Amino acid sequence: MKTYLLFLSVLLLVSCSSSEEKRVFNAVSPNGTIVVDFNVSEEGKPYYLVMNNKNVIIDTSYLGFELKDAPNFDKNFIIKKSLTETHIETWHMPWGEQDSVKNNYKELKVFLQEKETPKRFLNIVFRVYDDGVGFRYEFPKQARLSTVEILEEHTQFNLTQDYNTFWIPGDWDIYEHLYLTTKVSEIDALKYARHVDLAQTHIPENAVNTPVTMVGNDGTHLSFHEAALVDYSGMTLKVDTENLNLESHLVGSRNTDYKVKRSVPFNTPWRTIQIANNAPDLIASNLIVNLNEPNKLGDVSWFKPMKYTGVWWEMHLGKSSWDYGMEMKDGVWTDTGKAHGRHGATTENVKNFIDFSAKNNIGGVLVEGWNTGWERWIGFEDREGVFDFVTTYPDYDIDEVVRYGKEKGVDIIMHHETSAATETYEKQQDTAYALMQKYGMHAVKSGYVGKILPKGEYHHGQYMVNQYNNAAIKAATYEVAVNAHEPIKATGLRRTYPNIISREGLRGQEFNAWAADGGNPPEHLPIVAFTRMLAGPIDYTPGIFNIKFDEYKKNNQVNTTLAQQLALYVVIYSPVQMAADLVEHYEANPEPLQFIKDVGVDWEQTKVLNGEVGDYVTIARKERQTGNWFLGSITDENARELPISFDFLDDNQAYEAIIYKDGENAHWNDNPLDLVKEKITITKNTNLTLNLAEGGGCAISIIKK
Ligand code: NOJ
Ligand code: CA
Repeated sequence: MKTYLLFLSVLLLVSCSSSEEKRVFNAVSPNGTIVVDFNVSEEGKPYYLVMNNKNVIIDTSYLGFELKDAPNFDKNFIIKKSLTETHIETWHMPWGEQDSVKNNYKELKVFLQEKETPKRFLNIVFRVYDDGVGFRYEFPKQARLSTVEILEEHTQFNLTQDYNTFWIPGDWDIYEHLYLTTKVSEIDALKYARHVDLAQTHIPENAVNTPVTMVGNDGTHLSFHEAALVDYSGMTLKVDTENLNLESHLVGSRNTDYKVKRSVPFNTPWRTIQIANNAPDLIASNLIVNLNEPNKLGDVSWFKPMKYTGVWWEMHLGKSSWDYGMEMKDGVWTDTGKAHGRHGATTENVKNFIDFSAKNNIGGVLVEGWNTGWERWIGFEDREGVFDFVTTYPDYDIDEVVRYGKEKGVDIIMHHETSAATETYEKQQDTAYALMQKYGMHAVKSGYVGKILPKGEYHHGQYMVNQYNNAAIKAATYEVAVNAHEPIKATGLRRTYPNIISREGLRGQEFNAWAADGGNPPEHLPIVAFTRMLAGPIDYTPGIFNIKFDEYKKNNQVNTTLAQQLALYVVIYSPVQMAADLVEHYEANPEPLQFIKDVGVDWEQTKVLNGEVGDYVTIARKERQTGNWFLGSITDENARELPISFDFLDDNQAYEAIIYKDGENAHWNDNPLDLVKEKITITKNTNLTLNLAEGGGCAISIIKK
């Protein structure tokens, strides 16, 4: 990785005695528009406020903890001292939405101590950026506090408007819910506590998961989330619909009465508020990655961003299956001659994907269902010891597949469906990653479908946060990059551990193949771009060309036009981007396939050209290496006319624009395949109007002439 750091730190020490408590402690964003005030109340309760353009957007909000077997840690504080600091730095992403990232903030750190015994210490650090605020608690080393068991964190976000809110329920076990759009006062997460399409779900409170994005009447755009979630529980936000107050509600465990256990010293994750005056600026924000620590892995050039195909969609469609038809005999998976003949991960099938990928500038092939154990997957309680991540089914010759891939310049992407049996996976990791290293495989897609084993843990609690993070850190030592499904939310850790390349953590394309509720509606991705995508890269698996797939499933379909499926390669960022459809569906459609062949996966720059949360968004990205641009535009169920200026293109450079757009009669449901391809020459002086159909999109390759 290219690293150069430009550091400028100015330290300013402000000491004050308790008699000065009335003075306000504050930090102002570098451009002066966002201000955070901090103080303690008469009872010594820490609180903060946030102003944007002189308007209070977070009113007096209290901060503190409820601890087990110890007095609560939320009042009787005095401010011992405070420090402010200005930080300016530019760092480089080894791959990403952009090459260089500016990290510029003002920091306020307040040192608190309880007035009376036990006189414990707590620090609170605020970082104020032009694009929002992050703050965290630091439990410093101290004699009277060596371990804490946190029953609850009480971090408030006291809103000043009844925002239009784009939210998913505060599920402790999965993020794969459809987004709801309501006022804060109308949030009712408990209504979604049952869901036929989810293998596990637990929604104990009227709370939402983050990122949760809000749009105010005055154009204020806010998104609440967290950064650097390490050795702590995921945070949901409990909603007080009457007082328009959000409060942290940590994910718990049925095995412990506390939610987080840590030895002191430690820092909590950052609590984040992204603040913008328009929707595109939310996507442009780098707050979440900036709040994470710099790269700890050093050179990660062993991983290369890539497009990939895979033995995947065919299983979701029911064309083939993950399992082979083996039986468990005396604890060993045995081929008893009952193979059903529909197994997907065969040597021959994978070679077909390799051939297709090699021809179409696609670098990888994902193979799911290659290892024994799938006969006992969804719905089984006894999942420990079922998968081993090294033993292949009899019809899959991994040596031959890897050899053939190398010959054709195509990597095999490993798949580890842990089935949420965490003890088995933990035990197997070294062997599993070593096998990958032996074959020169540098990417694994992992999965955590089902209720967590050990029973009583949830996907988003401290136990699992550590499982996900430790798996990625271990994988890095074998030069393996991780794309987790059913993951913990992205919190920008990819800055520190760049091998955390992508993840699911939303309702992915797979729901269109089988969801009983009709799949992802046209508004899904125009919401995702401004919510889930603020957290980090998404393995959405776009590129379904056979939109209705009636030959497989009469009652399911993709709810977008074909042009939108292409646009997603640009709109949804991930350094691994799947071409998810079947080889035969691509080969039948060479015209749109050309876009997948051409489109980049690693970007020098990103420009969000327009957008409204939940309605539409247009993004242009400049490819590293080539300097070519790609543009993607998507809309919800409404057709749109979007004027585009290409003034972001290089000076004195002509480009060939290959436009893939909705035809005149295109419509996500009535006519999704109506697509028109045209070529024109453009420069930075060109203006165009994009016409997107209902549920439609537009994709443009902008290639230097
Ligand atoms: C759920 C994942 O999201 C999906 O992509 C995968 O195919 C299955 N689990 C099987 O692991
Ligand atoms: Ca999933």
